Amino acid sequence: MNPSKRVQKLRELVNYHNYRYYVLDDPEISDADYDRLMRELAQLEAEHPGLVTADSPTQRVGAAPAEEFAAVAHAVPMLSLGNAMNEDELRTWYEGIVRQLGETIELYAEPKLDGLAVELLYQNGSLVVSSTRGDGFTGEDVTSNIRTIRSVPTRLVERENNAPALLEVRGEVYMEKKRFEEMNRARAEAGETLFANPRNAAAGSVRQLDPKITATRPLDIFLYGIGRVKGVAGRKFKTHSESLDFVRSLGLRTIREGRTCKSLEQAVDYYHQMQQNRDQLPYEADGVVLKVNDLAQQLELGERARSPRYAIAGKFPPRRQTTVLRDIKVQVGRTGALTPVAELEPVRIGGVEVRRATLHNEDEIARKDVRIGDTVVIQRAGDVIPEVVTPVTTRRKGRRKRFTMPTKCPVCGADATRPEGEAVRRCVGIACPAKLKGTIEVFASKAAMDIDGLGTKLIEQLVDNGMVTDPAGLYSLKLEQWAGLERMADKSAQNILDQLEASKERPVGRVLLALGIRNVGAHVSDVLASHFGGIDAIMNASAEELEEINEIGPVVAQSVVNFFRDKANRSVIERLRNAGIRALSRKRAAEPKPKNGRFAGKTFVFTGSLESMTRQEASEKVRRLGGRASSSVSKNTDYVVAGPGAGSKRAKAESLGVSVISEKDFLKMCEEE
Ligand code: IVH
Repeated sequence: MNPSKRVQKLRELVNYHNYRYYVLDDPEISDADYDRLMRELAQLEAEHPGLVTADSPTQRVGAAPAEEFAAVAHAVPMLSLGNAMNEDELRTWYEGIVRQLGETIELYAEPKLDGLAVELLYQNGSLVVSSTRGDGFTGEDVTSNIRTIRSVPTRLVERENNAPALLEVRGEVYMEKKRFEEMNRARAEAGETLFANPRNAAAGSVRQLDPKITATRPLDIFLYGIGRVKGVAGRKFKTHSESLDFVRSLGLRTIREGRTCKSLEQAVDYYHQMQQNRDQLPYEADGVVLKVNDLAQQLELGERARSPRYAIAGKFPPRRQTTVLRDIKVQVGRTGALTPVAELEPVRIGGVEVRRATLHNEDEIARKDVRIGDTVVIQRAGDVIPEVVTPVTTRRKGRRKRFTMPTKCPVCGADATRPEGEAVRRCVGIACPAKLKGTIEVFASKAAMDIDGLGTKLIEQLVDNGMVTDPAGLYSLKLEQWAGLERMADKSAQNILDQLEASKERPVGRVLLALGIRNVGAHVSDVLASHFGGIDAIMNASAEELEEINEIGPVVAQSVVNFFRDKANRSVIERLRNAGIRALSRKRAAEPKPKNGRFAGKTFVFTGSLESMTRQEASEKVRRLGGRASSSVSKNTDYVVAGPGAGSKRAKAESLGVSVISEKDFLKMCEEE
C-alpha cells in the first residue's frame, strides 16, 4: 500500500478507536494495539512530512465531546503526556531537557493513575464547573456528576480567610481496585453488564447523563496540577511540589505517593519501585509521571504540539501470566463483528481475575497458532482488554485441532462474511438479535427513515421486551403497545404512529440507507437509488453490474450483494414491503422512472473559466443527462465545477462540504458508461 493511502487508513482507524475509547468509553482494541497504530502513523508522518495534516490524530489530543453535555473551553489547554516505554527512554528524555536548559534539574515523580482527566474550577472558594479533558481544548460539562464524588470538596478550605479568587485544578477521577471489584460483583448478581476495568468504570460513570447513577458509583479523585490561579495574596510557589502543597492545603486530594527526586537516578529508582509495588497500590497505575519540579524551568522548556517537554509518562510493561485456554467462543458485537474470545482457566493478573481474553480475529489466531487446550501467555496491556499473546508450544501435549471461524453468525445463523482486505468477519443479518438495537437505530435515524421520537431508550425497551425482532416489526405495533412503554404518554405514542406512517413515503435512497448495509452510507445510497430507480433492481444486481457504476467500488458492491443474498434479509424486506413502504411497492416499481440520466437529481454550479466549452454548453450537457445547472451554491448543490479564477463560490462550496471538481473531472463524469 502506498504511504499516502496507508496514512489515510491509519487515521480512519485511529479516529474510530478514539471515538470508541473517548466518546463511547467502549474500546474495541487494547491500548497496545491502539499504540501500535498511532506509532505507525507517527512514523509514516515523520518519514513523509508532506503527508502531515492539521487534522491528523497525531496533531491533537483526544476526541470531540459527546453531544449530550454542554461544552466547556479550557482556558489553559489540557495537554497530554509523551511516553517512555522503559528506563532508557526515560534517560533519553532527561538528557534532552538537561541539554536544553544547560543546568541540573530536580524532578517530581508520582504514579500515573488510570482513570479520566478532569478540571475543577473554583471561584471564591466554591466549585462552579467541572469538565472532562475532551480534545484538550474543549471538554464536557460534568459538574453535576463530579459533585457526587465525596472526595471533591464543593467548597475549599479557607486559608486565613483567603481562598483564591479563581482556581483551576486538574486531576484524575478513578476507582479503587477493591471497590471496582465489589461493584462488578454486585452488578453480576443484579444481572447487569460488567465494566472491563476500573478506568472504563470511572470514565463511564463520569460521563453518565444521570447524576443519580454516578452517585452510586465508588468514584474517587486525585488532583495533580494547577491550570490557572488568581488572587492569592502573598502566595507564590516556585516548584510543582509547592503548588501541590498549596492544593492540598485547600482541602483537595493529592497523590500520596508523590516524591521529589534530586537526581535522575532517584527518579529511575522510583519508576522501578512503583512497578514492583503496583499490585499493592489501591488504584490501577499504568506508569509513573516525571515532572520538572522548578516552575521557571518548566516554562523555559516549553511545549511540543500536544505535550509539554517538562513532563513524561514512564509506562510500565504489560503484565503477563500463563494459563490454560479452555475454549474459544465467538461473540457478535453491536456492529455484527465476530470476535473470537478465549475462555481461560481463571488467573489473577495484577490483582484482577481474568477469565476471558481477546484473540482479535481469525488471522491473529492463525498467525499465533493458538489451539484449544494450549497453555497460553495472557497479557493485560494498558490494562484494558486482556489478550492472548502466544501459546506455549513446548507444553502442547498431543495433537490439537486448529480453530476455524464459523461462516454463519453464531447468534442468528445469517451469513458471516469477510470482505477482501478486511480482518473482521461480520454477520450480514439485518434481524440479528446481537445487532438489533443498532439496526433499528440506523433505520429510524434522521438521514434514513427519520422516525422522530424513536430514540435509544425506546428502542431498548422494544427489543428487550421482545416487541420487535426486525425493523419491519415497528409498523405492526398498536397504539396501546407504544403507550404501554415506560416514559410514554398517549400523545407521544400517537406521535410515533404518525411518524411511522409518514416514514412509509421515504424515497428509495433513504430506505436503502435505512437497511444499514455495511459501507452503504447516504451518498452511496443516493447513487444506487438514482441509477437503479428501485430496491428490487438493486437487490438483483450482480457485483459486476454494481461496480460498473461510477463511484461504486468492489468493497461496496460486494457488501450490497452479500446483504441481499441473505434469505433472512430478503424476508425482512418482504415484510417492510407488506408494511406499506412505498419505495418497495411493486406498483411503484412498474411506474416509469421519474427522471433518468446519470445526473438525475444532481445540481451543478459552474464557476471560474472553462477551457473546452462555454458555460452554456456545459449547462446543456448537464441537462441532457438529467441534471440541473444552477448559478448559486447552496447545500443542495451536488458539484461545483471550478476553473481558473474561481473565487467566492468555490469557497462557499468548500465551507458547505459540497464537492468541488475540475473541468476535466466533469468531462470524465459526462463520458463514463
Ligand atoms: S500530569 C501536561 N500527572 O495522564 C500533562 N497526568 O497522558 C499533565 N494522568 O490526561 C498531566 N496520572 O489524565 C499527570 N500523576 C499524573 C497523572 C496524569 C494520570 C493522566 C492524565 C492526563 C494523562 C496524560
